[in-house]
Amino acid sequence: MIEKAYRIYPLKNELVETMTDDDRKDPIISLSKLHLTLGTKASKVNILNGIDLTITKGETVSILGPSGSGKTSLMLVIAGLEHASGGTIMVAGQFLENLSEDDLAIFRRDLIGIVFQSFHLVPTMSALENVAVPLEFAGLEDAFERAQQELTAVGLESRAAHYPSELSGGEQQRVALARALAPRPKILLADEPTGNLDSETGRRIVDLMFERAAERDTTLLLITHDESLADRCSRILQLRDGIIAFDSAPAKRVAE
Ligand SMILES: Nc1ncnc2c1ncn2[C@@H]1O[C@H](COP(=O)(O)OP(=O)(O)OP(=O)(O)O)[C@@H](O)[C@H]1O
Ligand SMILES: [Mg+2]
Repeated sequence: MIEKAYRIYPLKNELVETMTDDDRKDPIISLSKLHLTLGTKASKVNILNGIDLTITKGETVSILGPSGSGKTSLMLVIAGLEHASGGTIMVAGQFLENLSEDDLAIFRRDLIGIVFQSFHLVPTMSALENVAVPLEFAGLEDAFERAQQELTAVGLESRAAHYPSELSGGEQQRVALARALAPRPKILLADEPTGNLDSETGRRIVDLMFERAAERDTTLLLITHDESLADRCSRILQLRDGIIAFDSAPAKRVAE
């Protein structure tokens, strides 16, 4: 599904922006009565069951919840990779239900970075090529230069020519992070990015993620089973059975 993000569209120039305090109050993700039902008629599964959620620019939000509670599904809907069955989804000023598949691909390319638990690097490409791909597809002439800078920012400048199979799990995840951040997305979605790493390596990946996100005012959604990682976010959400069972944002606190 992710390959859809890698279509070639005209160049988008304005990649770096500075935010004012007023910008930070603006909602960047706004979900209303979001429902997601998947499966065939005979075996329908209600996955998301009425999610109301507003996230403002620059917030760092962790999403906790038991296996099967809908965390990944929620992330896929926000990325426009899964179509909601009901409700409205506004992400970075776009109402996703109004966008065609082509528009959704542009939306992801320009606005969304995604990091998965299992890295999803292209095995036949070097670290540098993996990071450069989305930049090339965005039409940037200095894609490789920028990719090298992104690798340097995650401490992998000396590994640029290595293939994923020659890298440790932590190094592969750093390449994946560099790739996700290289196009300067407004929103970084990370689905258990430390799930395949030892706790020390995982902590370092998350440090990098927070540093880069803070430098660039990127809104961060971090799905994790690790409560100590979740605590590092400015806001904690708990999903249960496809609803938000807990939201640490004071005005929205839901009784346990
Ligand atoms: N394509 C699909 N068709 C039917 N059911 C699905 C589909 N994809 C996911 N589900 C179901 O939706 C529910 C939520 O799945 P999801 O992957 O969002 O959970 P999760 O909270 O990310 O879990 P985990 O912590 O194990 O990753 C699960 O019960 C899953 O079996
Ligand atoms: Mg999941």
